[in-house]
Amino acid sequence: MHNQPLTGQTLEQLAAEALAALESAADSKALESWHVVYLGRKGRVTQMIRRVGELPKEERPAFGRRANELKRELETAYEKRVQAIKAAEMEKALAEGAIDVTLPGRPVARGRLHPSTQVLRRIYQIWADMGFQIYRSRDVETDEYNFQLLNIPPHHPARDMQDTFYTTEEGVLLRTHTSPGQIHAMREYCPEPIRVILPGMCYRYEQISARYEIQFHQVEGLAVGYNVRFTDLKGTLTDFAQRMFGAGRKTRFRASYFPFTEPSAEMDVECILCDGQGCRVCKHTGWLEILGCGMVHPVVLQNGGYDPTVYSGYAFGMGPERITMLKHGIEDIRYFWGNDLRFLEQF
Ligand code: DAH
Repeated sequence: MHNQPLTGQTLEQLAAEALAALESAADSKALESWHVVYLGRKGRVTQMIRRVGELPKEERPAFGRRANELKRELETAYEKRVQAIKAAEMEKALAEGAIDVTLPGRPVARGRLHPSTQVLRRIYQIWADMGFQIYRSRDVETDEYNFQLLNIPPHHPARDMQDTFYTTEEGVLLRTHTSPGQIHAMREYCPEPIRVILPGMCYRYEQISARYEIQFHQVEGLAVGYNVRFTDLKGTLTDFAQRMFGAGRKTRFRASYFPFTEPSAEMDVECILCDGQGCRVCKHTGWLEILGCGMVHPVVLQNGGYDPTVYSGYAFGMGPERITMLKHGIEDIRYFWGNDLRFLEQF
């Protein structure tokens, strides 16, 4: 047809021919090649439209309009034919029994949040409800922030090569706890009052076992202001425990020691598995230790820029993996980063 001179007539002829060919296309394959031959990018209709320049100027607009109209009609006819053939093919397959509609469907796997993420989000929510903001601080720390500014003396066992991942760069390490974030927060906020939680991953050079992992989360908390007292710490942490583990859940504080708090304590909650009756998880004590806490040491306040004769504060640190383990009676911390779906799918 390329040799024929172009007229409106040649266009109509081509369209009629295309429609006839469409009618005789009997299956999906034939339809596909029909589309390539007539409507494809290099198809006959497309090519004929491109030849519009061969026409006298005054005939071109009418030709263009009609060409687009015919093209649309062919597309519509094609879509209709596709649907009809698909339906016919499906019916045929059903009749022949190729599709067994009684087969069970394939289950769609649903993703979910990691148990640590779920617990972390619950903890964030509770502290947010109590007016604490989240303060993010870095995983890679300096010896100064991780230890020195927190009043951890040079001979302290936590600084041992056995406990800390040091980098090849002098004085740079992976944080062993979220406490260095306290210094970052204080230096940023000083002299304003502070109420933040500092969540994040911590790293320790441990022999991995059912109880110890080389990475784990902590959620640190810090409140600094005027007249912040130990009773504020006790009341706030008890409130947290009741929101986290249920209203009426008992708590108790035991004296403890941390270099960056004075006085220091640990908080226990009444065992959430046996309600304080005594069981395997609480080792028959009726209590579970869930966090360390204390009044921020004056030296630490000072390192953060606050005058300890004017300001006071409390701090705490908890481990969400440990809390999750207690809550669900999980006996091995290695499950958390083992990526075993049989474990993860239970949460
Ligand atoms: N940094 C401590 C640890 O890793 C946890 C901790 C205890 C944090 C007492 C605190 C605190 O803020 O007051 O074991």
